[in-house]
Amino acid sequence: MNWETFPDYDALSEAAAAILLRTIRAQPSIVLGLPTGNTPLGMYARVIAACSREYHCFSDVVAFNLDEYVGIPRDHPGSYFSFMQRQVFAHVDIEPANTHIPNGMAPDLKVECARYDRSIASAGGLGITFLGLGSNGHIAFNEPGTPFDSRTHVVALSESTRRANAAFFLDQPVPTHAITMGIATILDSREIVLLASGAKKRDAIARLRSGTQGVDFPASALWTHPNVRVLVDEAASIS
Ligand code: GLP
Repeated sequence: MNWETFPDYDALSEAAAAILLRTIRAQPSIVLGLPTGNTPLGMYARVIAACSREYHCFSDVVAFNLDEYVGIPRDHPGSYFSFMQRQVFAHVDIEPANTHIPNGMAPDLKVECARYDRSIASAGGLGITFLGLGSNGHIAFNEPGTPFDSRTHVVALSESTRRANAAFFLDQPVPTHAITMGIATILDSREIVLLASGAKKRDAIARLRSGTQGVDFPASALWTHPNVRVLVDEAASIS
């Protein structure tokens, strides 16, 4: 695991955007694993700005999002589908058919999870996956207790995760379940970049840095992967 510490969120976002842009330039048809949350917003804004100055940026890129809420229509502003349109996809030249997000409204969620894993595999597998970090150590929506060999599945969201996402659901109860790529699905990505910013992530980063692996702390599964970069800012690092 390769650790890089940046003075602040802007510097971290700049570095993350540089990794993503460099990867797309080197491999224009890269398969991306993409996160939602606040942490990647700075990276996305910089990538969009750079792509608006370049010809062909995302035109051959394939993207798979990590997760989606169950029971939230795609056009609800709190859905991750809406988030990705708003923050990324509406602003770059990605083919809509190449953007994949689990369908949390599918009539049979188990079938949807299996379909999602199959479509990642048929796209050639994830090339590089960007992750945020939950303050309880979750990656995507893999909450503490999730087996490291899990594939895409339905998860019950923890109370702390529901509270952290409450701002997006002022008009209705915060969803109780989500579809998430499993930990093994994420670990199959050839490269992984984890981003963590701010004092709220300090305990989780300290635990990750300790190297202690266990299902009580999902991000610790990343220690089993040969190509992980962790980008943190000073506020998220131990003082
Ligand atoms: C949500 C997402 C995760 C994300 C996490 C952290 O739970 N499903 O993928 O990493 O939030 O969010 P933030 O970056 O806003 O702290």
